[in-house]
This record gives sequence, C-alpha cells and structure tokens, in this order.
Amino acid sequence: MTEANTQPEVNIGLVGHVDHGKTTLVQALSGSWTDQHSEEMKRGISIRLGYADATFRRCPGVDEPECYTVDEECEDGSESEPIRTVSFVDAPGHETLMATMLSGASIMDGAVLVVSATEDVPQAQTEEHLMALDLIGIENIVIAQNKVDLVSRDRAVDNYEQIQEFVEGTVAEDAPIVPVSAQQEVNLDLLIDAVESEIPTPDRDPGESARMYAARSFDINRPGATAEDLKGGVVGGSLVSGELSVGDGLEIRPGREVDEEGQTEWRPLETTVRSLQAGNRDVDTAHPGGLLGVGTGLDPSLTKGDALAGQVAGEPGTLPPTREEFEMTVDLLERVVGKEDDESGESDIEEISTGEPLMLTVGTATTVGAVTSARDGECEVSLKRPVCAEEGAQIAINRRVGARWRLIGVGTLT
Ligand code: GTP
Repeated sequence: MTEANTQPEVNIGLVGHVDHGKTTLVQALSGSWTDQHSEEMKRGISIRLGYADATFRRCPGVDEPECYTVDEECEDGSESEPIRTVSFVDAPGHETLMATMLSGASIMDGAVLVVSATEDVPQAQTEEHLMALDLIGIENIVIAQNKVDLVSRDRAVDNYEQIQEFVEGTVAEDAPIVPVSAQQEVNLDLLIDAVESEIPTPDRDPGESARMYAARSFDINRPGATAEDLKGGVVGGSLVSGELSVGDGLEIRPGREVDEEGQTEWRPLETTVRSLQAGNRDVDTAHPGGLLGVGTGLDPSLTKGDALAGQVAGEPGTLPPTREEFEMTVDLLERVVGKEDDESGESDIEEISTGEPLMLTVGTATTVGAVTSARDGECEVSLKRPVCAEEGAQIAINRRVGARWRLIGVGTLT
C-alpha cells in the first residue's frame, strides 16, 4: 500500500445494543475515541454517528491470523506493513436512535455486529440492528462477541451458541463470530482477519459523477474569529461514487429553505470545494469510500450544527430531484422487532393507513411524512422536510408504536 491509498477505502458500521462495547472496540482498533460530541460525553452514549479510521497492518514473516495488527511495531521490534485503511461508522445503540443507525446504514459497505457475552442474546437493539442490516441489504457482516474477559469459558460457549441460533435464517447466518475483549485488546488479530476476508472494498467506477451523502456538517470557526480568518462551512459524509477534487464545483440538495413573501421554498446550494480531508489528512482528490470532510465556500452559518446532515452533494446539475412528496412500494415486516418486554403496543404490523405519520430514512436523511394515500403495497407520502432522492432509492419506514418510532418495513421510491 502506498501513501496515496492510505485514504480509507471502505466504510464499516459498528452496530449493536447499547453498552455492548462498540465505541471501545473502535477505540482499540483505531486509537481514537469516537464519542467526541460534548453532549455525547454528558449522556455517555453516541448520539451522533462517530467516525474513526483504522489502518490494518501485517507483521512480515508471521502466519495468519497472528500477523494482523493495528500497531506500527511488531512484537519482534520490526515494522508492520499497512494493508488497508478502513473507516468505522460508530452507530448509537440507544433505543430512540434507530433513525441515526439507519442513516449510517446507507453509507456502510459492511458491518461488525457487537454482541456482549455478558447478556442473553438477543438484546432489543441487537435484534433491531440486525433487522435493519437485513432490510438495507448489508450482507458483509462480522460478529464480535465482546467482553469475553468478563465471563467464564462455559458462559462464553453458551453465549456463542445463542448468537449462532439467533442469526440463523438472517443475513448474518454465515457471518463469522469472533470472541474478543475490546477493552483488554484480546483477539483483535482474529477480528481483523475476519474483516479482511468478509468485508471487501467494493468495486467502484471513478468515472461516475461525484455523489456524496452528508452525515454531518459543521462551523469550524472559533467564536470571535475575525472576518479574514473565517473559514467556510464544512460538510462531512461519504462519497458513494465518483471522485471529488479541490476546486470542483459542488451542488448540495435540497439546500436551504428560503422564505419569500410568506412562501417557503427549498433552493439548492452551489459552492466550490476548497479543501478535502480524508483519513485525517488533507488531500487534493478524494476517492469513493471512507468518510470525508469537505471544506466549502459556504457561509458557515449554513453548515452549523449538522444543518446539512441528510443532504446530497455532487457535481452541479447531476443530482437527483428534491422531493416534497413521493410514492413508494412497501414491504412490511411481519412483526415489530426489538421490543422490550415491558413495552406496550401491538407486536403485529398492520397495513399503513392514510393520514398516519411515518418517519422515513432515505440515504442519510431522516424526515417525517404524512401518508396521503395508501393501497396494497404502495403509498404516497407528503414530507415535512424534503429529500433529494432518485427513483429506486431505498427507504426505511418507521411507525410510532407505543412511545417510540419502530422500524416496520422498507420502501422503494417509484
Ligand atoms: P453506546 O455508544 O452507548 O451504544 O455504547 P457502546 O456499545 O459504544 O459501549 P462502550 O464502548 O461505551 O462500552 C460500554 C462499557 O463497557 C464501557 O464501560 C466499557 O469500558 C465496557 N467494555 C467495553 N468492551 C469491554 C470488554 O471487552 N471488556 C470489559 N471488561 N469491558 C468492556
């Protein structure tokens, strides 16, 4: 691997139940802590998708899987060789944040499902996240059986068998299950080995026009920065096709809401790419895969506080239309998954009905829509906040069940 391709080339989701150790595992593999949001720190959970890049390495002359490491120095003092840089998307496990997990799923090329050996399988979000991977069509999965340092050998074996039974008949049926301790950094070589063989870098065509899904956006200026020092808005997300270079024109849709004489309308934003950060360093050209920070010429007030999260960016004139309403075909699940025992509400999923509100995740956008018409396997929705999406786009459909939004099925935009 040369310096030029230390850019992350694949996005790997870390999913699983709250406190099962996703953040600790990302930290062990990447040396960085994804819980950086101040509010996150306060609440102690990942409230936004966190990102961290990790370079997998190999110690020369050592057999697989022991050769795999994330350290630059091997046990014998020699230098390890970089193999591949991956980007982890650390999705939150907290129950109300399924939508954020789903918006991350749209930029994941594969996933590591983290399951704690200290609890029975499945816990609510273990089941719900696996169902989401299934629905969104993420097939390259590795299961990390975490916290094995806290349980006896017998308990670990029982738990392993519970995991096997739980994934039977799902998209993760053939996924390897790797016992690890994220905190004690045990078996990380086996985990890297499994990721290397199960989650390949997808084939991508660099000739396609650039398309980026924004997952976050920022104002990186310190309070009180002078006009000359002011930096343009930054958009963070993932390039899913094409390439983006410094100096390229950039269109962002739906853009911003403008109010003219009482009429509101969404207008696309146009700007240029001023800087690019991939793999924690500045680059001139970014390739598909990995997570990317794009410095733009936009007024930072437009990008502050994730204002552009969920939007789509790309070469001007090539983006899909902005839709305030759309029609979709619908595939419903048979029953609500991930429900806690003490929760009320029906478990069977009824047909979607006209007038009901739905929460829809399209790409990295999450929006609430009212159903304006519903018939056999199809429905029309009118959105509170428009989305930029093309025909054939997959939509995760959530309904309010009891006190919270629940995943009830998947739609395809027609
Ligand atoms: P959310 O972001 O809130 O969904 O949680 P998470 O899945 O990211 O869990 P996190 O990494 O924050 O870990 C939860 C707790 O378990 C922390 O106190 C960790 O230190 C601990 N922990 C994680 N992995 C291990 C492990 O392998 N062994 C032990 N003993 N503790 C662990």
